[in-house]
Amino acid sequence: MSFFNDIISHTPVFDNVLRSARMVSATDVTVLIKGETGTGKEVLAQAIQKDSQRADKAFITLNCAALPESLIESELFGHKKGAFTGASANKIGIFQAADGGTLFLDEVNSLTLSIQAKLLRFLENGECLAVGETKPYRVDVRIISATNCDLQKAIAKNEFREDLYFRLNVIPLEIPALRERVEDIEHLIKHFQAHFSETHTISAPKFSKQALKILQNYSWPGNIRELRNLCERTAILLSDQDIDAENFPHEFFATKTANNNDDTTFNLPELGLNLDNLEADLIHQALERTNGNRAKSARLLGLSRDTLLYRIQKYGLASK
Ligand SMILES: Nc1ncnc2c1ncn2[C@@H]1O[C@H](COP(=O)(O)OP(=O)(O)O)[C@@H](O)[C@H]1O
Ligand SMILES: [Mg+2]
Repeated sequence: MSFFNDIISHTPVFDNVLRSARMVSATDVTVLIKGETGTGKEVLAQAIQKDSQRADKAFITLNCAALPESLIESELFGHKKGAFTGASANKIGIFQAADGGTLFLDEVNSLTLSIQAKLLRFLENGECLAVGETKPYRVDVRIISATNCDLQKAIAKNEFREDLYFRLNVIPLEIPALRERVEDIEHLIKHFQAHFSETHTISAPKFSKQALKILQNYSWPGNIRELRNLCERTAILLSDQDIDAENFPHEFFATKTANNNDDTTFNLPELGLNLDNLEADLIHQALERTNGNRAKSARLLGLSRDTLLYRIQKYGLASK
């Protein structure tokens, strides 16, 4: 039994990623997990830690995007009493707290260049320097980092150090987006429904075949996190009921190709759609986006201003 068994996958590409992850968990090698938000990067990092020899040691997550630059250096490496205003005592950093264990650097792409240099120093010779100190200290920390943006692009824009990238990217693990793991959707729904019926002591609703098809066609910008939220919401609001196409909000009816930046094609969803509703909704969105400016809205929709006014009246859409 391994912690990887808790990670649901019925998709060959993701199975391969999990296989590699299992192999690296036996070692101390540095891992970089790539994937869109909500694809399960942190879940994978935790599985690697729990499956490793460091399992009973600390696992510390630092969201690199959540801290201002002024705090992050001291947070990571600690500081000496008096190093800056407010540093009233010595403080140990996350590197020391994680000694012997694993440090998960989430959104590593948002580290500033100066912190990147300090992280590189640690990866090259195991040394850290507390703010205000002159003597470095050593720790034994395994680094797993994650990024939801393309680091190569950040390197091209001089926002990310290439030498650090090579150090972090010893083993790259790329988690596919949920829209590329369509086979998993049904299994994930079952998994989350079982979980939420237990935590909320309710009977989960039943998704019809059509409802499932819509979910399999949807683009899931928030990936598994979004699917999990949908399962929790429907488990509570539609407990014990049948869920059908009409229970979903309109964004579920735009198929994946709507994301392809190709505005000349719009694929009719397999189950059809309500054209009037769609039109009314698009007009509503255009008005929202332009703060109710009808001329701009008409341009966004490729309509004349008169046609737009007519349709606003037809659908009873009040604009601001
Ligand atoms: N394979 C999986 N099986 C079950 N739940 C998952 C899986 N991957 C992710 N999740 C769930 O999805 C949510 C987002 O996962 P997380 O690891 O935080 O994503 P990320 O770090 O990529 O944004 C969490 O609630 C997590 O429990
Ligand atoms: Mg995350």
